[in-house]
Amino acid sequence: MLKIGNLKFEKALLLAPMEEVSNPPFRVTCKRLGGLDLAFSEFVNSEGLIRDSDKALKKLTIYEEERPVGIQIYGPTIESLIKAAEIAEEAKPDLIDINCGCPVKKVTAHGSGAAFLKDIELMAKMAEAIVKSVKLPVTLKTRIGWDMNSIVIVEAVKRLEQAGIHSVAIHGRTRSMGYKGSANWDWIRQAKEAVKMSIIGNGDVMTPQDAKRMFDETGCDGVMIGRGAIANPWLFKETRHFLETGEILPEPTLQEKMNVMKEHLRLGAEFKGEKRAMIELRKHFSGYLRGVRGIAKLRSSLMQETELAPIEEKLDAFLEKQEQESFLRV
Ligand SMILES: Cc1cc2nc3c(=O)[nH]c(=O)nc-3n(C[C@H](O)[C@H](O)[C@H](O)COP(=O)(O)O)c2cc1C
Repeated sequence: MLKIGNLKFEKALLLAPMEEVSNPPFRVTCKRLGGLDLAFSEFVNSEGLIRDSDKALKKLTIYEEERPVGIQIYGPTIESLIKAAEIAEEAKPDLIDINCGCPVKKVTAHGSGAAFLKDIELMAKMAEAIVKSVKLPVTLKTRIGWDMNSIVIVEAVKRLEQAGIHSVAIHGRTRSMGYKGSANWDWIRQAKEAVKMSIIGNGDVMTPQDAKRMFDETGCDGVMIGRGAIANPWLFKETRHFLETGEILPEPTLQEKMNVMKEHLRLGAEFKGEKRAMIELRKHFSGYLRGVRGIAKLRSSLMQETELAPIEEKLDAFLEKQEQESFLRV
């Protein structure tokens, strides 16, 4: 059972924090499709929040229908993370999450993200300071260690539990692996066995069967899904159904895929402005159109567009053509 303050979920399914992906339009889209218990925002730069930067402040936006949602912050020092946590708390999320897993050099070079894995004493001290500075529950997301020679996750979760952290999400890779190789779920199991607090497993869950296997093999309380949700926003719904019944749901119809994709695009345009949203949302096209015959040409033609209307027109025309063809085949 995942327990974070008053939030409680049996076999929780969580949307991972993902930069330029886990924003309100995508979180709402996944939530509406069903099966999703808790979503995280993309990481928000503590220094940006302190500077009052519009870009950082916009990332604190929460739509009521997507709750519960956690805001994730990252930053280089205890002081800046405390200030950022206090600012994020004013946006009234359901929890605050601290990023101690981002492997990107420009982030770790300043001591942020996965850099905390090099000093778990400091990580625990920072976590304790944030727990004390906000009223909301605090969670933390990290990796298993800096590199293969320094796997620290078991010791880290023990220290973080003592520091008052409510739950830790563990991506089963080291910082130096980046996204290469495969996530080592056995470290997630060992971390889970070492503490009483809830543990969230993360890394390489792409199907409902993967999620079940992660629950079974690690004993984790929640499974967090990132890239799998970009590839298939129905994954939470399908996984929930599979966990409850052992059955795999049929693929959504082309009509349903197109409707959900168009609604996601509309929400994106409202939130970010049309041009920026149409460019950012390109990374979702393959996911929505996956498995559809003759899609390559449509996808590359959608990639040329920076406005909503021509994309909607192309999707409608494609759907109509497909329907005519299947009518002729009958
Ligand atoms: C496009 C992208 C952006 C990401 N941004 C963040 C982020 O802002 N904060 C974070 O903690 N992790 C971030 N991650 C890592 C994911 O949350 C997750 O840990 C990782 O993708 C492994 O899970 P998966 O195999 O389910 O994708 C990002 C990953 C991707 C693919």
